[in-house]
Order: sequence, then C-alpha cells, then structure tokens
Amino acid sequence: MNLQLSGRRVLITGGGKGAGAAVVALFREEGAQVLTTARNRPTALPEELFVAADLTTVDGCATVAEAVKARMGGVDIIVHVVGGSSAPAGGFAALGEEEWQQELNLNLFPAVRLDRALLPGMLAQGEGVIVHVTSIQRELPLPESTTAYAAAKAALSTYSKSLSKEVSPQGVRVVRVSPGWIETEAAVALAERLAEQAGTDYEGGKQIIMGALGGIPLGRPSTPAEVANLIAFVASPLAGSITGTEFVIDGGTVPVV
Ligand SMILES: NC(=O)c1ccc[n+]([C@@H]2O[C@H](COP(=O)([O-])OP(=O)(O)OC[C@H]3O[C@@H](n4cnc5c(N)ncnc54)[C@H](OP(=O)(O)O)[C@@H]3O)[C@@H](O)[C@H]2O)c1
Repeated sequence: MNLQLSGRRVLITGGGKGAGAAVVALFREEGAQVLTTARNRPTALPEELFVAADLTTVDGCATVAEAVKARMGGVDIIVHVVGGSSAPAGGFAALGEEEWQQELNLNLFPAVRLDRALLPGMLAQGEGVIVHVTSIQRELPLPESTTAYAAAKAALSTYSKSLSKEVSPQGVRVVRVSPGWIETEAAVALAERLAEQAGTDYEGGKQIIMGALGGIPLGRPSTPAEVANLIAFVASPLAGSITGTEFVIDGGTVPVV
C-alpha cells in the first residue's frame, strides 16, 4: 500500500523513544520530511530532524512551532505523541495541585499550544492532518494510579473532537489514535521489574501488567510499530474521509462495545 506520505512535512512530538520513535522511523521510511522533538535527542537521529524542547512549557511549545516554520516553512501533518504519566500511586489523595498540573501540562497543553500556533498555516494552505494520541485510559481509568492522566487524555480527546468540527470544513482533518498497552522500552523495563519482584520471568511480568488492565484478549500488548502503522494510515491521503473520530488499538482490552 502506498501511503502517499512522500515529501509531506511532518511534525512528530515525543519522537525520541517508544511509540513516537516508531512513528518517526515509519514516516522517514515513507519519504516524509520529518521534524521531531523531545527533551533529549536520540544519538541515532540526525540533528537536522530534531528540536530539543520541554513541551510542558509555553516556551518549549513556542520553540518547536518556530522551528517548524523556520526549517520546513510550515507543516502538512502533526502527530502529537508526547504524553505519559509520572503521578504516584495512591488514588485521589496522592494527587495534589502539582501532580494534576503536570498531567495536564504533558497530556493536554502541548497539543493545544502547538495546534494554536500551527493551525493557521494549515488553514491558509487549505489542507492538513492532526493526529492526537490519546489512551484507552480515558475510558478505562485505573483509580489507583491513572486518574489524573486518564482525565487529561479525556480532555485531549474532547478538545480533538471539537477542533475537528471546527476545521474539517476548511480541509484540516483531526483524528485520534487511542492505544492500550504498548510494549515500549519503558514497558519492558516495568515488566522486568515486576517479574523480579514476583520471582517470575519476563512473560510473567507481562501477565501481571495485563492482569492489572483486566486482561488483553489478544494476549499481548501492541508493538510500537503497530501503533505507528495505524497513525501513518490515518494521517495519509488514503484516509481522506476520516476525521473527528478515534481509533482504538488495544488488543481488545476495552471490555465494552
Ligand atoms: N506506553 C503505553 O502503554 C501507552 C498506552 C496508551 C497510550 N500511550 C500514549 O502514547 C504516547 C506515547 O507513549 P510512549 O509510552 O511510547 O512514550 P515514552 O516511551 O514514554 O516516550 C515519550 C517521549 O516523549 C518525550 N517527552 C517526555 N516528556 C517530555 C517533555 N516534557 N517535553 C518534550 N518531550 C517529552 C520523551 O523524550 P524525553 O524524555 O527525552 O523528553 C520521549 O521521546 C503517549 O501519549 C502516551 O500517553 C502509551
């Protein structure tokens, strides 16, 4: 399948590791002109494809938006991958002002700020695609440790839907991709840690994580490459009539229709 992404100018946030790194690799393979961002540049990534920024800050988002304009003269596709959670376990009582703000700063505001800076250019050119990476946690929150993260992803999802209604008539598609558990470097490390604590092997560690999610019918997490494949498809002209909707990639984890 030719995804027709060659020559497209693409900004990918959170492209240093995990799913974001897989998205960067795939768009580069497809011949897109990629600019990616994180706080630390992976050594294997050429400097000209990377801009260092802390996207939890207003200044960090401005730095990235300026780099997009200066280096690519605008953007055709934005893939908002950056996100995650550093909140402690312990339910609502463990979530103070700082923890709530941090989850919103990482999972909602980078998309809001970068879209606000870069959408006018897309609207002027009459086309563009924005992909927001959400999470199944937004519909399947785990109260022990993901309440703030899940709520921030829910806010991102609602923001994305509203934006799609506003800008799709002007040629800009806005789509969400909602992963379940992805077997990233961080997930591997977590499974290994849990395995060691429980005196089992890596597969045993994975089973502990899948158990916490209520099971994964497919029996395994998604790979970063599988998530990247879905993102590349929805961002491509092949998905030209898709906007305002959310694609779940979770091996069947969400237990309802
Ligand atoms: N992993 C999962 O199981 C899972 C499940 C559902 C949804 N998701 C979502 O999928 C997306 C990717 O997750 P992932 O697990 O693949 O991520 P990851 O492996 O933790 O990588 C996150 C990327 O974002 C960058 N980053 C982190 N904090 C940043 C900041 N303050 N400013 C700029 N860049 C920052 C990191 O690089 P630096 O540290 O160098 O900045 C890294 O490149 C996220 O939106 C996540 O919420 C993940």
